[in-house]
Amino acid sequence: MNKVLITGGAGFIGSHVVRLFVNKYKDYEIYNLDKLTYAGNLENLQDVENEPNYSFIKGDIVDGQFINDLFGTHKFDRVIHLAAESHVDRSITNPLEFIHTNIIGTVNLLNAAKNQWEGDLEHKLFYHVSTDEVYGSLDDGGFFLESTPYDPQSPYSASKASSDHFVRAYQNTYGLPIVISNCSNNYGPNQFPEKLIPLFINNIIHEKPLPVYGKGENVRDWLYVIDHARAIDVVFHRGKPGETYNIGGFNEWKNIDLIKVLCSTVDSKIGRKIGSSEKLITFVKDRAGHDLRYAIDASKIMNELGWEPSLQFEEGIRKTVEWYLNNAEWLLRVTSGAYLEYYREQYQNRA
Ligand code: NAD
Ligand code: TYD
Repeated sequence: MNKVLITGGAGFIGSHVVRLFVNKYKDYEIYNLDKLTYAGNLENLQDVENEPNYSFIKGDIVDGQFINDLFGTHKFDRVIHLAAESHVDRSITNPLEFIHTNIIGTVNLLNAAKNQWEGDLEHKLFYHVSTDEVYGSLDDGGFFLESTPYDPQSPYSASKASSDHFVRAYQNTYGLPIVISNCSNNYGPNQFPEKLIPLFINNIIHEKPLPVYGKGENVRDWLYVIDHARAIDVVFHRGKPGETYNIGGFNEWKNIDLIKVLCSTVDSKIGRKIGSSEKLITFVKDRAGHDLRYAIDASKIMNELGWEPSLQFEEGIRKTVEWYLNNAEWLLRVTSGAYLEYYREQYQNRA
């Protein structure tokens, strides 16, 4: 009952989930399965790597035979599946990678769980971690509810929507016990600096241009990563099998306003004149098919499972900026090598 497989545990959100579970549930055996792509980094887990209830397995969820054998060897009871390709811009450049990892990888895990658990489904759970982007794009009004029809608009969100459908299909067809959560944009320590907040913090520190897509009017709903990890803990232990839970902070920001907060927060921490880094803001060519607005209605998880965010946004941003300033070497290591090539390719034609 206590062998828990967490996939993608070396990534941004996964590392916070692994840390929470390893420290909080000493009687669980936590297995972290991760391919260690550019986004996976075992440095994120140095503080728990020697804990007796933690093991790391390097492996690829796209390799179906390997995944099946792994379930046979370890006989996992429950799964929290986070491994994915997660960046929209990369999905626009290379959609197939997203189909392999996000769809085929998820189906491989579902098959292995189904085979392993056949005839004994008691205390078993396949928890699939997904995104609010499956619901598509909102205009100025309304929120995403659990009942909102799927309408994914990017290759990333289409691949995540497809994986969600497969997870539900395995419950409906084979009776697999599943639960799904769809969360809004996360931010916080350990996020790879290709996503808006860590990329811009890094660029502000190094006085590099801040490439704002379009007019900066797109809206995202931001949640501190540790609050997402807490929500995953709650859904994993108290969520009703078969249900979906939306997770979000009721915290919408227009990109340009958020970027100004980032500028002033970094400025104040490193002793620059507050607001002076706004001169780095550079409007560039918009992302293709750029979703205008995401906004989650998180009432269900709040009312039914008693979860709520613990941090106000300003405090979360302050902690995040402090983390990146205090972990300059982490930032330097992940932004050397292949990152430089990625950055050049992504941004060279946007000016
Ligand atoms: P991330 O890109 O930081 O980490 C993904 C992890 O998965 C990495 O450690 C990577 O090495 C691993 N991985 C990738 N391909 C793999 C493969 N084939 N086999 C095994 N491991 C592989 O992603 P994240 O931001 O931490 O997101 C984690 C999950 O949460 C994803 O499923 C994502 O869709 C979902 N999500 C993310 C956000 C967000 O704002 N970041 C919001 C909602 C939901
Ligand atoms: P991102 O962090 O990539 O998350 P997502 O696209 O999954 O919401 O982007 C957040 C917002 O920031 C999104 O509206 C796109 C915008 N953005 C920029 O303006 N410039 C950038 O360089 C990046 C990476 C994102």
